[in-house]
Amino acid sequence: MDAGPTTLRPRVVLGVCGGIAAYKAVEVCRRLVDAGVHVTPVLTDDAIRFVGEVTFSALASEPVQRSLWDESSPIPHTALGQGADLVVVVPATAHTIARYAAGLSDDLLTATLLATRAPVLVCPAMHTEMWEHPSVRDNLATLERRGVDIVPPESGRLAGGDSGEGRLADPGVIVDRVLERLGRAGRPDLLGARVVVSAGGTREALDPVRFITNRSSGKQGHAIAVAAARRGADVTLVTSSPLALPPDVATAVRRIDVESAADMEHAVGAAADGADVVVMAAAVADFRPKRPAGRKLSKEEGIPELVLEPTPDILAGLAARRPPGQLLVGFAAETPDALERGRRKLARKGVDLLVVNDVSAPGTGFDHDTNAVVILGADGSTTEVPLTSKDAVANAVLDRVIAHHNEKRSTT
Ligand code: C5P
Repeated sequence: MDAGPTTLRPRVVLGVCGGIAAYKAVEVCRRLVDAGVHVTPVLTDDAIRFVGEVTFSALASEPVQRSLWDESSPIPHTALGQGADLVVVVPATAHTIARYAAGLSDDLLTATLLATRAPVLVCPAMHTEMWEHPSVRDNLATLERRGVDIVPPESGRLAGGDSGEGRLADPGVIVDRVLERLGRAGRPDLLGARVVVSAGGTREALDPVRFITNRSSGKQGHAIAVAAARRGADVTLVTSSPLALPPDVATAVRRIDVESAADMEHAVGAAADGADVVVMAAAVADFRPKRPAGRKLSKEEGIPELVLEPTPDILAGLAARRPPGQLLVGFAAETPDALERGRRKLARKGVDLLVVNDVSAPGTGFDHDTNAVVILGADGSTTEVPLTSKDAVANAVLDRVIAHHNEKRSTT
């Protein structure tokens, strides 16, 4: 599984205690990772009796942590709790519930629970007699009073053939509660979405030192990649721009630097496999020298005759072979009649959204920090974004991507 960049993902500590329901925590772990969450499993010593450490380590975002005395980190009990956006305990045994309620911190899980200020979800699972015992009820009431969320168990088959209340809540219910709580804590709206963005003007070689290019700076494409990463997406940026990414996303974005349209076609094509959204913001050269010289052309040889050939239309190629559900966004830099030409281009290219900018308008387009665009939708929608920062345009484009995705989902 491709874990993708992790820095901007919400971090969840998954505490697992020693109960037969520990095997269901494996499913919770897997589903959270699939939803784009960074999961650190913390197993109690008794949990290991029920489920192998390796199972969690293989599925989670990082290996299982068990010990307060790990040599690689001198203070794991505070580090884990402090870094978590949420802690969830699946299953929570009567023993661990009692330790947590009493404020004991005699292993890594209870120490993490005491050291965190993040929301905590406790998902109890135990035999009916234990579940109904007044001490368990009192301990849970204490935890609830302190703001801990309890995901109550269900009625059903229990270990040893018994049946009754105490069976762990369904893993799907637990995952939904975790994601919902993360939402309240500001869950990013593109969490887990795989987004590919292209940016910059391609450079088409005349010879090893000279090339033909266009005036694109790559600022708008980079702004889209940055905004998508900040909104939780797993971003691949294919760029021919030398612009640096801001430090907070530099390690979160998978950056592929390219030169020519051919390089870009190759890199975008590979990244687009499995992507949910592809945004072609790059100003791809439409023509390239047909026979670039293998060595530097010299003046003494006279002015070379330039024969050009068309480059591949990357976007049209993606549209022709896109997997179901993938959303394609194109850009169109137009001079007057931008909208009319944009509508025709949207249909011709077979994309879902086309971001049209009139590059002749003041303050818009190439090399500016501001832009004004109209976002055309294949559904006939028109969204105007008047002159604003390229960051704001990027977020407006992503808002339309999300809205379009939701509309598509509700009609299929
Ligand atoms: O046809 P035109 O070049 O105006 O279309 C612009 C859109 O198509 C942009 O999204 C650009 O990234 C993309 N494009 C492409 N391959 C090309 C030329 C443009 O993907 N060869």
